[in-house]
Amino acid sequence: MTGQASSKASQRIHLLFVCLGNICRSPTAQGVIGRQLYDAGLADHVRVDSAGTAGYHVGEAPDSRAQAAARARGVDISHLRARPVQRSDFHEFDHILAMDRANLATLNSRQPRPARARIGLLMEYAPKGYDLEIADPYAGGPEGFERILDQIEAAGNGLIQALCTRHGLRCRN
Ligand code: 4NP
Repeated sequence: MTGQASSKASQRIHLLFVCLGNICRSPTAQGVIGRQLYDAGLADHVRVDSAGTAGYHVGEAPDSRAQAAARARGVDISHLRARPVQRSDFHEFDHILAMDRANLATLNSRQPRPARARIGLLMEYAPKGYDLEIADPYAGGPEGFERILDQIEAAGNGLIQALCTRHGLRCRN
């Protein structure tokens, strides 16, 4: 499947999703929103990546519960590997989207100036009524992984609409 885009959209957009460990929420966001972009015909125009503000799990695959929950919705995240946020990310990515306020605060404190990236919360793109934070599911049960998928799917749809408007991309709905 190839993407259609207007001439305004000649530059690739780079998105980085950030949580604490980069083994539950942000790799799920990378996989799910990457799939939504593909379905919208935008895979060639938007790059997705993920990282963690802590280094506890560097080099590890996503948590097996996150992998299973994503797989049940048709998204394979097994190939992803955790990595820490690095200084160059602030210059390389257009949008760095945190899963919760604690990670948002960490990103703001580490941001070099000037920087290319706009930093915000992923859930700012979800419809009204959703929590603004995606809660860490690591220490809880399987329902937490379903909840993060529901939140990420809702925010991903809003994010793609916003990117299409802001960057002049032609989305396939
Ligand atoms: P994540 O979840 O930030 O969504 O990847 C966590 C994974 C591991 C830990 C905390 C949160 N941990 O403390 O090891």
